[in-house]
Amino acid sequence: MRNFLVVEDLTPQEIEGVFSISQDLETKYKAGVRDALFPGRVLALVFEKQSLRTRVSFQTAMVHLGGSSLFLGEDTGFATTRESIEDFSRVLSEYVDCIACRSKSHSTIEQLAKFSSVPVVNALSDFSHPCQALADLYTLRRHVGRLDGLTFVFVGDGNNVARSLAVACCLLGMRFILAAPKNYQFDRSFKQRIMKLAPDAQIEQTENAVAAVKDATAVYTDVWASMGQEKERAIRQDAFSPFQVNSTLMSNCPNAVFMHCLPARRGEEVTDEIIDGSQSVVVTQAANRMHVQKGLLAWLLGHR
Ligand code: CP
Ligand code: NVA
Repeated sequence: MRNFLVVEDLTPQEIEGVFSISQDLETKYKAGVRDALFPGRVLALVFEKQSLRTRVSFQTAMVHLGGSSLFLGEDTGFATTRESIEDFSRVLSEYVDCIACRSKSHSTIEQLAKFSSVPVVNALSDFSHPCQALADLYTLRRHVGRLDGLTFVFVGDGNNVARSLAVACCLLGMRFILAAPKNYQFDRSFKQRIMKLAPDAQIEQTENAVAAVKDATAVYTDVWASMGQEKERAIRQDAFSPFQVNSTLMSNCPNAVFMHCLPARRGEEVTDEIIDGSQSVVVTQAANRMHVQKGLLAWLLGHR
């Protein structure tokens, strides 16, 4: 049994395997075919934070696969004093075939996985957002035709999404650049983690966003204050305002695609003209969350 808590829980070859199932199921979906691979199987979604894309794409994916899903919000008492995560996990995994969890703390998902008898998927934590990174690189590959050797530039906070993208890019042979204020770049332990995973990784950090985007195939950004960081919004706005992705910045890379995980704070990390402009692939990224999570669920449930 396998979990998917961080990108590196899959090898590069396994990521390719998930992409290949996703592509097959996407082609069938677009032809009006729903491949009911898992009738009667149930996915539980245990969410401690808000969600549109992740929640709905997992739920629809499961229906298309012939199964169903249960959305479990705050009323289950997950990660509260009501009961231990150990008990919660052992019991829930008696009822369902897979669990996707969005948690305030990465260690909560690790605990859930430790005691679960069914696969656990990280649907976003403060540390990582691996499902997002898979869908994003699937999107980029569909758009450009390849991944190897491309330069991926993340302009903004070195957050959960940036970490997962950095790992995914390094595992798949891409160059990754984070352009961020010094205090919001990756820390030493994360850089060491990447170098251990991919000793040949091409990963850079800079405070110069203009220089960073020059060779970019993709320019990506995310909100400056993630869920749980609302109190830091004002201070983060000051720090990140020189890192806005706008037409001045994108004029340095007219052939790059613009990417964003959404939800976006228009007028902060990105302007309307860029997110709605011809370089933007944000809606395709969101759509691909469903196709790639369908591929991931199928893979985790044994379809190879
Ligand atoms: N990108 C993403 O994870 O969106 P949601 O928070 O709406 O799920
Ligand atoms: N970094 C954002 C991503 C939302 C999909 C957050 O954690 O809120």
